[in-house]
Amino acid sequence: MLPTTPLVPPFALTRASHVSLAVTDLGRSRDFYRDVIGLVVTEESEDAVYLRGLEESAHHSLVLERADEPRALRVGLRVRTEDDIAAAERCFAARGIEHRRVERPHQGATLQFRDPVGTHLELTASMDLVPRKMQRFDEFVAGAPQRLDHFQVVTHDVQAATDFWTGLGMRMSEYTAKDGTDELWGSWMEVKGNTHDLVFTNGRGPRLHHFAYTVPDASALLHAADVAGALGVGDEIDRGPGRHGISNALFLYLRDPDQHRVELFTTHYQFIDLEDEPIRWDVSDARRAQLWGLPASRRWFFEASPFPGEPVREPLLHASPATLEDYLGVH
Ligand SMILES: [Fe+2]
Repeated sequence: MLPTTPLVPPFALTRASHVSLAVTDLGRSRDFYRDVIGLVVTEESEDAVYLRGLEESAHHSLVLERADEPRALRVGLRVRTEDDIAAAERCFAARGIEHRRVERPHQGATLQFRDPVGTHLELTASMDLVPRKMQRFDEFVAGAPQRLDHFQVVTHDVQAATDFWTGLGMRMSEYTAKDGTDELWGSWMEVKGNTHDLVFTNGRGPRLHHFAYTVPDASALLHAADVAGALGVGDEIDRGPGRHGISNALFLYLRDPDQHRVELFTTHYQFIDLEDEPIRWDVSDARRAQLWGLPASRRWFFEASPFPGEPVREPLLHASPATLEDYLGVH
């Protein structure tokens, strides 16, 4: 069933902004994100590394935290002002959603919570400012990632996730449904004016499937792939390069040393005008996932990062896209 988005949401979300990952070897993960992806290290300590894209003036869009087990700790969204943090508290209290204010380094007021499908999240209204590196072309390496753009979460209940997030003001730009129906298999939702900030797809969840940074152009994308090969991690490219039907992005997915997945991609199209209707895709339509090239592997479809202590549930909807193994007849 398709959602409706209120024109005046309970508080003002503005964009996907940051992600925190538990990693087992901090130095190795820092090297991967700095040297293979091309992120800037803003700050590092014994227990954490803070990184950002070249265009970003916020202190961090990726936080790596030292841990015994790899986990997706939480995904972060920005709200417009501190009043929106207070409004979010009232909204969650009214809906019976557990939440708590926390102190996070280099962030303003921060509110952590779990959404109804168990995704671990935090909202913040501000971060410390640092210089943008967008014209330090002499420092561009690998994919030269510009800014964090979106998250994709695997969930057992795409409909519930979609209803919750559209109720908070996100708009669905595209969706995938069981063939010939509007039973949601995947939901692409945005708040910043391109096709998505937050995506939910059907599967064993909640687990973080990937987070994504924009790159300047196709050359940067290919250069990232070449750098991965040159540095001996070419086999950690688990999909692409290719072109998505959904959102029209040219993409490349890589796995970090703990198998967290990061996407590099060229830009999406705008999705701002309210009369725009979401684009619908059948789950069996291979063109929704890639306009050319082979289907993604089972590894890409079914592997993802769990959240700490969060039980993973079987999906309610039984529908799956064809994988590379299906295409090749491998069982
Ligand atoms: Fe993505």
